[in-house]
Amino acid sequence: MISFNFKNAENLIPIDWEKAQKRADAVHAELVKERSSGKIGFWELPDASINSLVSEANKAKKKFDTLIVFGIGGSSVGLRALLRALPKKNGMNVFVVESPEPDPFLDLLKQCDLKKTLFNVISKSGKTTETVALWLVTKALLKKKLGKRWKEHVIFTTDPESGWLREWATEEGLPILSVPPNVGGRFSVLSPVGLFPALCAGLDVKGLLKGASLGRDRALAGGLEENRVYRWAVLQDAATRQGQNISVLFPYSQMLDVFGEWFAQLWAESLGKKGMGQTPMIVMGPMAQHSILQLLQEGPKDKIITFLRVEQFRTKAVVPTVVGEARFLSKKGLAEILNVEQAATASALAEGMRPNITISLPRLSAEVMGELLMISEILIVFLGHWMGINPYDQPGVERSKQITRALLKR
Ligand code: PA5
Repeated sequence: MISFNFKNAENLIPIDWEKAQKRADAVHAELVKERSSGKIGFWELPDASINSLVSEANKAKKKFDTLIVFGIGGSSVGLRALLRALPKKNGMNVFVVESPEPDPFLDLLKQCDLKKTLFNVISKSGKTTETVALWLVTKALLKKKLGKRWKEHVIFTTDPESGWLREWATEEGLPILSVPPNVGGRFSVLSPVGLFPALCAGLDVKGLLKGASLGRDRALAGGLEENRVYRWAVLQDAATRQGQNISVLFPYSQMLDVFGEWFAQLWAESLGKKGMGQTPMIVMGPMAQHSILQLLQEGPKDKIITFLRVEQFRTKAVVPTVVGEARFLSKKGLAEILNVEQAATASALAEGMRPNITISLPRLSAEVMGELLMISEILIVFLGHWMGINPYDQPGVERSKQITRALLKR
């Protein structure tokens, strides 16, 4: 179970907890109502059946050794976070292409044996320029190389009714995985968007969903004293009110760097509205201790920092006995050194009156990642309701999509 240490934030952010509790109760009631209305689907994803996805992925694994995913934003980053953080067993090689930048894309295609490659084109709207363009180029190439058999090399993941991908798949008789209509892009990692490629890669998807389900149930229970997710949200909001407009996520595991990207996307696209929303910033420990930390420690007091640390890594390495001045390192595990550095940084920041929170992950397992993803989504949704904004839309992102299309039509 993921645990939190709020001491270094609570000491520096004055909050009237009684008042906060009343407001949190009202927001909680809104979340419960929203969930039971069925209008927003991410809540129920951990409990959805994955049988058909498992059989589709097993079929793919028998036939292909490589899966190339085309998708962007909510249709890619969560998957990349899982591929980065979790161990793989008996899976295919999975690559994710997000940008239409030609060099890396064509380099990747050159490396793969197209006869052994399946393409998963993921777009909820079925119309996103980058994804659709990558697919159209690939389709032409597949037709040239494989003739009529090109159709066996693609599976679309898209809305059950609308969009070009849906139209094209129907016209050509291509296989489709449907994204539930009530699940928006950045909340879709636990839908077929993330789960089909995760199964192909050999990740423990059952564990992921189990962790997400437990994380959801815990994050909806209890008052601010016990409910760590709501408490985190209240602290974030109170920090904004005292000028901390930047929210820094500081993971002490390189395997969580893409999770950081996902978290920043979820945060910015959900909460950056009506002139509000803290700016998310991701810095990686311990590297940032030798760079950005100076700014966090002594720069403007406009940041609240959240550390992520992993208590137990998959492997172990211990420093041998050392003599001389460096002897304090004798017999210390590398993981222990890493986590002492995190604790030291948190203390230094607290000393410098910089509020910070520490989140401890027992290990980087599928269950823990499931819990982390789900509690992050609940944090953001809670904050959205608390701030009086809709966390599920993204008019700013849509506007740039529209202008891109208009410019390309000229
Ligand atoms: O969260 C969102 O809605 C966005 O980040 C989308 O996921 C992103 O723009 C890609 O959209 P689509 O899945 O429709 O291609």
